[in-house]
Amino acid sequence: MSRMGRFEALQRPVANVCDGWGAELAIDADWPVWPLLADRFVRLAPMAKRPIPHPTLSTARLRLRQFRADDADEMHTCFADPETMRFWNQPVYTKRVETERSVRNFIDCTPSYYRFWAVADGADDRCLGLVNYHDGHIRSRRASIGYMINPTRQRQGLAAEAVSAMLDFCFAELGLHRIQAFIHPDNSASIGLVEKLGFSREGVLRDNLRVGDVWRNDLLYALLSTEWRNG
Ligand SMILES: CC(C)(COP(=O)(O)OP(=O)(O)OC[C@H]1O[C@@H](n2cnc3c(N)ncnc32)[C@H](O)[C@@H]1OP(=O)(O)O)[C@@H](O)C(=O)NCCC(=O)NCCS
Repeated sequence: MSRMGRFEALQRPVANVCDGWGAELAIDADWPVWPLLADRFVRLAPMAKRPIPHPTLSTARLRLRQFRADDADEMHTCFADPETMRFWNQPVYTKRVETERSVRNFIDCTPSYYRFWAVADGADDRCLGLVNYHDGHIRSRRASIGYMINPTRQRQGLAAEAVSAMLDFCFAELGLHRIQAFIHPDNSASIGLVEKLGFSREGVLRDNLRVGDVWRNDLLYALLSTEWRNG
């Protein structure tokens, strides 16, 4: 294709759609589109402005809900803790304003690409951590996940409970086929968590992540929809 031809291809008309939870997307009408978007969430432009609430997911002990600005206090306990941040994709937050900025980003979302939930105590709504999916790939129905639990509440089965609820949502509601986790080889808690949930280790990604000035390897784990609670 000539350079001009390629440019013209990029200029093809696209359909402006909403993914149903308030995010507007530009989708090339010639591309196969994730059935999620076609079947459940796509609304034509005139309906696109209708705000759709962030989905709240309930478990026995937890309420996974949209973040609020006042969750910054609890989240700063996590982000300022060197042990909790040891394997995170960013260095420890030394300033509270860094946490406030992150929480603001967690409130926003682009549901076809990423979404964060505050993991809140079902009894008093206190924020105990986060779960998220990100790097959503529409055509391949694939996304990656992340999770963090307050250091004072770890080893109580909370991450397993919260991530399970998010996986239910991702497979059943979003129609995802593959969910990935990228994990530092020394992060035994995270490895134990995903293996408990049925993820398979697929390999080592060398120097996959740069945190500060340090290159880090990641283990790649993945779970297919057909493997989750027997599909
Ligand atoms: C990973 C993390 C979310 C686990 O949270 P948690 O609520 O303590 O996990 P759970 O209690 O649900 O544990 C589930 C399983 O994970 C494993 N696990 C959890 N913590 C562990 C630890 N410290 N050492 C070894 N295995 C551990 C166990 O297999 C456990 O199952 P079991 O209790 O039946 O043995 C938590 O350690 C954390 O927030 N870490 C810092 C942030 C982070 O590294 N996130 C992952 C980035 S890839």
